[in-house]
Amino acid sequence: MSRPLPDDLLQVPHRRDVPFARLTTLGVGGLCRWLFEPTNEGEAQAFVRACAREGLPWRVLGGGSNLVVLGDLELPVLRLAFPKQHRRDGNHVTAPASHGHISLAEAAAIEGLSGLEFASGIPGSLGGAIHMNAGAYGREWIDVLARYRFLTPEGELVEKAPEPGEFRYRWSWLDGGRVVLSATAALAAGDPATIRARVAEYREKRGTSQPLSKRNAGCIFKNPTGHSAGRLIDQAGLKGLRLGDAEVSPEHANFLVNHGHATAAEFAELMDQVRAKVLEVHGVVLEPEVEIWRE
Ligand code: FAD
Ligand code: EPU
Repeated sequence: MSRPLPDDLLQVPHRRDVPFARLTTLGVGGLCRWLFEPTNEGEAQAFVRACAREGLPWRVLGGGSNLVVLGDLELPVLRLAFPKQHRRDGNHVTAPASHGHISLAEAAAIEGLSGLEFASGIPGSLGGAIHMNAGAYGREWIDVLARYRFLTPEGELVEKAPEPGEFRYRWSWLDGGRVVLSATAALAAGDPATIRARVAEYREKRGTSQPLSKRNAGCIFKNPTGHSAGRLIDQAGLKGLRLGDAEVSPEHANFLVNHGHATAAEFAELMDQVRAKVLEVHGVVLEPEVEIWRE
């Protein structure tokens, strides 16, 4: 970015030159030149308003568990650093978007609240999970989302219940510059032992089907309607395809894993090769679930 950042933006807490390898689960990427970490909603709002006024493009990062960043990013990146407490009101639980997703599911389970068991193995932040409408084992966020609070691209604060069309499989209308600040889940009182058993069952399934011992970003491609992307990639013979330290997992073909020194470019290239081969073999176009950021 050639022009200097405005003073009001620079008043929001920030760090310089943080490697994306430390900000993403895949552990690759260049430098985040400007990482803004507001500690409250007012600072987050100041960030969005200043960027909107200046016409500056920017991005919002959560736990970086669904992300590959190619090269350095000069544009400002927002990562909420709000205090991570949740609040319970009857069977409703509200938490800031910066809350750990798995730790929120665990907190609900400890309190005997059922509904977030599906979330107990999905890493990242609550904000990222709402944005992605993250889901597993037949449930997704829209099934439990009662209300959410967000900033519009202009920095206006809105709190509302979700409406039809705003969330679907691994997609939400938050794409395009809306920042989730907090969310409320409508849960149900349940037997803590039953909830714990369901969480254990999901973790067992995940542990036996997904390559959790290596750095990864979850499933790389969305499941096309009526298909499993993992099965299509597997049947195309791509398990074990490797570029440097980036590999199509031999355990689950829709996961790419980092054996230690992979680069973002290798992951992007591997994704291209997998898409091309699946198209050739099956005639199916795979849509990425993982986001690729570049300047
Ligand atoms: P990031 O990767 O940081 O960002 C993802 C998107 O969310 C970006 O567009 C970003 O701009 C946006 N975003 C982040 N924070 C906010 C915010 N506050 N407001 C608005 N937008 C925001 N996903 C599933 O759905 N189901 C699974 O079962 C699953 N299993 C996984 C298992 C593993 C081992 C891993 C590594 C990943 C898995 N994932 C799964 C993918 C990933 O964890 C989810 O997509 C997760 O919800 C992303 O959250 P994040 O905070 O890491 O988001
Ligand atoms: N399969 C293969 N080969 C493989 C992988 C899978 O043949 O290499 C087959 C399995 O045997 C099974 C089918 O494909 O019959 C589906 O596999 P799995 O049960 O592992 O589920 P998935 O569709 O691959 C989805 C989500 C996961 C989520 C699990 C559990 C997507 C893209 N993936 O995986 O979400 O954890 O179900 O609900 O929707 C993610 O989104 O990042 C993610 C990990």
